[in-house]
Amino acid sequence: MSSEEFTVTPWSVEGEIDYDKLMVKFGTEKISPELEARIEKITGEVHPMLKLGYFFSHRDLDKIITEYEKGNKFYLYTGRGPSGKIHMGHLLPWIFTKYLQEKFDVKLIFQLTDDEKFLYSDQKSMEDVKKFTEENILDIIAIGFDPKKTKILIDTKDIKRIYPIALEIAKRITFSTVKAVFGFENSTNIGMIGFPPIQAAPCFLPSIIEGKPTQVLIPAAIDQDPYWRVTRDIAEKMGYPKPAQIHSKFLPGLGMQGKMSSSIPETAIFTTDDDKTVDKKINSTFTGGQPTVELQKSLGANFAICPVFWYLRYFFDTEKKSDERARKCKSGGLLCGECKGNLKDATKPFLKEFQDRREKAKDIVDKFMFE
Ligand code: TYM
Repeated sequence: MSSEEFTVTPWSVEGEIDYDKLMVKFGTEKISPELEARIEKITGEVHPMLKLGYFFSHRDLDKIITEYEKGNKFYLYTGRGPSGKIHMGHLLPWIFTKYLQEKFDVKLIFQLTDDEKFLYSDQKSMEDVKKFTEENILDIIAIGFDPKKTKILIDTKDIKRIYPIALEIAKRITFSTVKAVFGFENSTNIGMIGFPPIQAAPCFLPSIIEGKPTQVLIPAAIDQDPYWRVTRDIAEKMGYPKPAQIHSKFLPGLGMQGKMSSSIPETAIFTTDDDKTVDKKINSTFTGGQPTVELQKSLGANFAICPVFWYLRYFFDTEKKSDERARKCKSGGLLCGECKGNLKDATKPFLKEFQDRREKAKDIVDKFMFE
């Protein structure tokens, strides 16, 4: 695959992603400075993930804000496919979702697509997926969502809440549409082919819960967008508002290319990793550095392709510090060992605190569940 080529689907992200091209391909809109300013007026501050362009694209976010300004609240909806442990990449959209919940004071539906992950993987049994579901719920709660305003929906457990809506959706989407949008083939199992309405259904659940058309805003990385494209096409025909989205980029893995993914565990930092594991993974991280110290000092390094840089920028550095880091890196005034050291020093206490909250989450799981 040349660096010009990339693919982004809900199940695979490959190549060097050109996010501007992706927005054109998916038909989404860039978050404009004007829209950012309207958000700031309501929230009092622009979250760094928005300011730094990590959340960069949207569909109908302007409409959500217009309605909110008129006093009409929306619901948040996001989710997780419980296929393994939670890594730092997953945390970014959830931390942002928590910020939105707090600042806009809105309810959240959090879907766990255990069915999807069972169907998708040849290796995983329903028991495996159940175990990951239980574990992942602890991570979700540890983010700090408001238990009074958050419901976690597990597909196989709570199916009765979404099945009637999913059926209405399924009846309106053809095989040729999902084939084109999701790339399904004749060899795809029919469970996967029938799955998209299950992930689409929570877009309309708030309207049913509230008993009136209710807007939904979905914060997620842009890989999930194909679901919303098909859902938006049928929403109004079904009498519901089109779901709105706010899309993030991907946190890169610690390898040479690609997003952080649990399927390449040595390049992902999991929320349950201990200090030793974090040290080991970061020590062997790919960077944008030169082969020798001398070359680095004379030629400078390439922060743009360095996962250590991006990881520090999105999680731990202030904007000022990050810009300074980029400048020094480019001019040869910074060696990779220093950045790796900064990343280790920041990640370990962050994870320790997260693991404490994860432990405490065990006592409050019931508060987040649908009865
Ligand atoms: P899943 O489990 O693949 O991913 C969960 C969330 O994490 C985002 N994500 C990432 N974000 C940044 N950097 C990365 N490296 C990275 N990897 C994953 C995903 O975009 C997602 O927001 N089918 C879905 C589960 C789901 C869902 C939803 C997700 C059900 N309903 C509504 C978002 C919104 C899935 O398997 O996500």
